Amino acid sequence: MSATQEMPYFIKPSKNLSADEKRAAYEQAVLGIDANLMEESNIILKMATINCILKTYLPYFYWVGFYIVNDGKLSVGPYQGTLGCLHIDFSKGVCGRAAREEKTQLVQDVHALDQGTAHIACDPNSQSEIVVPVFGKNKNLIAVFDVDSTIKNSFDEVDQDFLEAILEKHFQV
Ligand code: SME
Repeated sequence: MSATQEMPYFIKPSKNLSADEKRAAYEQAVLGIDANLMEESNIILKMATINCILKTYLPYFYWVGFYIVNDGKLSVGPYQGTLGCLHIDFSKGVCGRAAREEKTQLVQDVHALDQGTAHIACDPNSQSEIVVPVFGKNKNLIAVFDVDSTIKNSFDEVDQDFLEAILEKHFQV
């Protein structure tokens, strides 16, 4: 089974936001994330909760989830969206690049990248994406956080700043 062009009933096409709308949505999401995770130490519960709250507030988060560093590769962790690839090599895709370089990757048009090498298309509906490295308390790479939109140019520095801050606050502790 793999994802097809047809979206399941529980997934909606993305809607882009202006910079001001984005900031307002992230501010609400951060309040929800902080309130729910204040007392939480379990990493999987944190990942699941961050996915859910961000996808609730940001209408261009079509696929949102974590790929966890596992035995020299990235393996899918908690996510919301259509079926994700199970394993991604560090040498492949936007996720692999974020893990290799330990730097956030912003891609405005995933179809402009070489398919199968620079980009892995788990779902053909994805058009733009951001991937943020996730560091643990020793500043070691523990995962990457991947968000896909069904429209181009959904992600920018506003997303980068908020997402890096959320992930730092809840995982580098
Ligand atoms: N976008 C990723 C693959 C993972 S899916 O989008 C869920 C990449 O090329 O790294």
